[in-house]
Amino acid sequence: MRAPLGVKTLNEIRIVGGRPLSGTVAIQGSKNAALPMMAAALLSRGISVLRGCPKITDVFYMEEILWELGARTWWEGHDLYLDCRKAEKTRISAAFSVRMRSSALLLGPLLARNGGARIGYPGGCVIGKRPVDLHLYALRALGAGFVEAEEEICAVCPLKNGERRLQGGEIRFEKNSVGATEQAILAAAAAKGNSVIYGCAREPEIVWLCRWLRNMGARIRGEGTRCIFIQGVDFLKPGDMRVPPDRIVAGTYLCAAAVTRSRICLENVPVHELDAFLSVYRKIGGQYTWKSGKLIADARAVGRPVPFLRTEAYPGFPTDLQSPMMAVLATIPGESRIREEIFEDRYKAAAQLSRMGARIRIRGKDAWIRGGYPLQGCEVAAEDLRGGAALVLAALGARGITGISGCSHIHRGYEHICGDLNALGGMLTTKRNQRTLY
Ligand code: EPZ
Repeated sequence: MRAPLGVKTLNEIRIVGGRPLSGTVAIQGSKNAALPMMAAALLSRGISVLRGCPKITDVFYMEEILWELGARTWWEGHDLYLDCRKAEKTRISAAFSVRMRSSALLLGPLLARNGGARIGYPGGCVIGKRPVDLHLYALRALGAGFVEAEEEICAVCPLKNGERRLQGGEIRFEKNSVGATEQAILAAAAAKGNSVIYGCAREPEIVWLCRWLRNMGARIRGEGTRCIFIQGVDFLKPGDMRVPPDRIVAGTYLCAAAVTRSRICLENVPVHELDAFLSVYRKIGGQYTWKSGKLIADARAVGRPVPFLRTEAYPGFPTDLQSPMMAVLATIPGESRIREEIFEDRYKAAAQLSRMGARIRIRGKDAWIRGGYPLQGCEVAAEDLRGGAALVLAALGARGITGISGCSHIHRGYEHICGDLNALGGMLTTKRNQRTLY
């Protein structure tokens, strides 16, 4: 058995723009569902299986963290096996935890399983401050104690009746947070006694995490609402479940159809998780039919601007599709406006899109887009995951060739963005750097 696959470090994508798309692609497993599900596997002392797991950088990073804790992982096709029988360690080195946001999600499972945790502060896309105060609040509410340390979060369970274990309790979030809700659920699932969590985020990834934990024997109800009830159990068994399809990848590919005014077919689409996005998609002139598991999108009539669009917590318009939609609106004549309500600094793609000829002005939370000016291929740089995807979309609709550097950001969440778009008729090539560790 060997250490996890090294990280694919594909650094540049070159795209020939102006080509219509057609054909069919299937949507990969969800990054934002798979990561908390991987963290949850630590709660069992057996071998769990996540089927249809996306082979993306963030999943490889999470694998490496689990190996550092004593777990072992391996792949059979797209099925990821997680052997947590010997995952008895409690420390995650800063070098590992800083590489992504989801490393914070291991705090709860480590406390619940091993009684303590010591991790470097998490990293992730630089789209805002991204504190973890709500995560720590939730763990404190279940009895965890923290030792202040410069670069690390050091947590320990209270000692009660000779055992170090989290105690069920009441958690009341005053602010909507996907990660903090997941943290609370992961910690409460194996705490002693019952917990009630108020003010929960309602994202589909939270619903899938609860389904996965129930598959492992947890007692949870209320997921998808603002209030979740959890009856702590002493042991969780290994799980075996399929990772749900990625709603953000599906939305990204629908934006690719819109930018190129094309008609494409997507399979394995979580269409019921995309209502707010599809409502905007229809507003700009997109049409689609959904039958027998296939979404046939006809974006040939796309051409209406969106006077005002605001990102919101689920079920509102997802912040993760804000940059991809910005690329679409840059190609639609007229004034469109986006308001980013979730993160403080999620307009990095605007400057790069402007280099391609887009007319975008940022004022506070708002991006004002005067669309319809032709986009021209040039050299641009991806600075975050979804901003990088937006550059790919703009390049598809631009004249000439676009070179996108910093594509390691994109490969954190998109398993086959080049392969999928080429299968739809695009012309994308990747330039590997000298040391691909994969
Ligand atoms: C998750 O991030 C997703 N990441 C993000 O997707 C997604 O954009 C975000 O939820 C919102 O939907 C994963 O699931 C791995 P939050 P998360 O906690 O959990 C503030 C992508 O592109 N906040 O809901 O970090 C925070 O700063 C990524 O796939 C606190 O103030 O998001 C933000 O302003 C990007 N204190 C707001 O809440 C905290 O302790 C929402 O953040 C935690 C968060």
